[in-house]
Amino acid sequence: MSDEIKKGLLGIVVDETEVSKVMPEINSLTYRGYAAQDLCAKCKFEEVAYLILNGELPNKSQLKKFENQERKERKLSNTLLQDIRRFPRNAHPMDVARTTVSIMGLEDKETKDNSPTANMRKVMRIFAKTPVALAAFYRVRKGKKIIPPKKNLSFSENFFHMCFGKVPDKEIVKAFDVSLILYAEHSFNVSTFTARTITSSLSDIHGAITGAIASLKGPLHGGANEEVMHMMNKIKKPEYAFKWINKALDNKDVVMGFGHRVYKSGDSRVPTMREYFGKVARLKKDKKFEKIYNIVEKVMIERKNIHPNVDYPTGPTYHLMGFDTDFFTPIFVISRITGWSAHIIEQHAANKLIRPLAKYKGNQHRKVVRLNQR
Ligand code: CMC
Repeated sequence: MSDEIKKGLLGIVVDETEVSKVMPEINSLTYRGYAAQDLCAKCKFEEVAYLILNGELPNKSQLKKFENQERKERKLSNTLLQDIRRFPRNAHPMDVARTTVSIMGLEDKETKDNSPTANMRKVMRIFAKTPVALAAFYRVRKGKKIIPPKKNLSFSENFFHMCFGKVPDKEIVKAFDVSLILYAEHSFNVSTFTARTITSSLSDIHGAITGAIASLKGPLHGGANEEVMHMMNKIKKPEYAFKWINKALDNKDVVMGFGHRVYKSGDSRVPTMREYFGKVARLKKDKKFEKIYNIVEKVMIERKNIHPNVDYPTGPTYHLMGFDTDFFTPIFVISRITGWSAHIIEQHAANKLIRPLAKYKGNQHRKVVRLNQR
């Protein structure tokens, strides 16, 4: 047994997966064999969610059934709605997402049943209810009435409807759908690995997703999309961007929304999301953030050869859509529930307890001295 340490499991292959493939060498990402960009161009989010969970793209009747199931499961229990009304209004929505999924685990009659069929039923409930719970909190914390979900609206349309009381233009909904497709799955990233690690002890899906949400919250992972917006707000104007980013690099600061553990010459999801960010900026007639975006990106590539990751364009896109900054990572959650769930189901199907080793570097063996002699 080698005792060479690979900190951060850098470069270690820990298992097999059929869910997605990240190919940094050709700057590509496939879900179940389909390129994410191709899926963005030809599918709505629900089709991709079905694909990730079931392994194949749905035909029309399979999609209808899947959409009906999701829409039927949107209703929250009265207890959960009461809980959401009682949550501290200044709580971070990621903590609300985490707590909400955990409460759903208390309420779900099938929590303990890890059979594939029960797990799929639970996935549909978590997938349908989490965005509804988040949108309810979006309203509650502003002192507004919770808007009930509508069964005639798609997954994305319903989220807008419940947050803002209206559904925006088709192009905005499409851009939101694209962001959800690009966020849906990304192999053994830290939150997915967390979900699989929790699952490996044969724990339940609500627990695994609760843990995954906690992991996604961190600024080195999903939390980066919020940090990107904070950075752009600090920069304020395009004319300050060049000076700001150079100073940040002189100070050796980590610039959020840049760099990736796997992609070293650009994140495959960025070109598509960048295109939709541009479309949203044009529709909203607001070019400020695009200008800041371009200047910061240019300097990062020229000075550090570090490219943007997907959180860089999603941050300002969600801002232009009207979402509060602390809701950006929760939006990532409502999409990634699909990827996490597919991995949890895959882990259950061929489980092996995840239990790495550590090289001990603490005190050598010593004798305990009794309390009255210390
Ligand atoms: N800004 C400035 N320098 C950077 C950045 C950055 N964003 N990313 C990497 N570097 C530098 C880093 O300082 C290091 O330099 P040196 O070798 O001189 O010490 C070198 O590049 C290698 O970086 P690393 O941190 O060792 O690489 P890693 O693979 O461990 O880190 C990362 C990957 C994503 C944690 C890191 O790039 C980072 O902190 N980025 C900012 C946070 C971020 O945007 N996260 C989102 C990740 S992708 C989407 C998602 O999961 O949500």
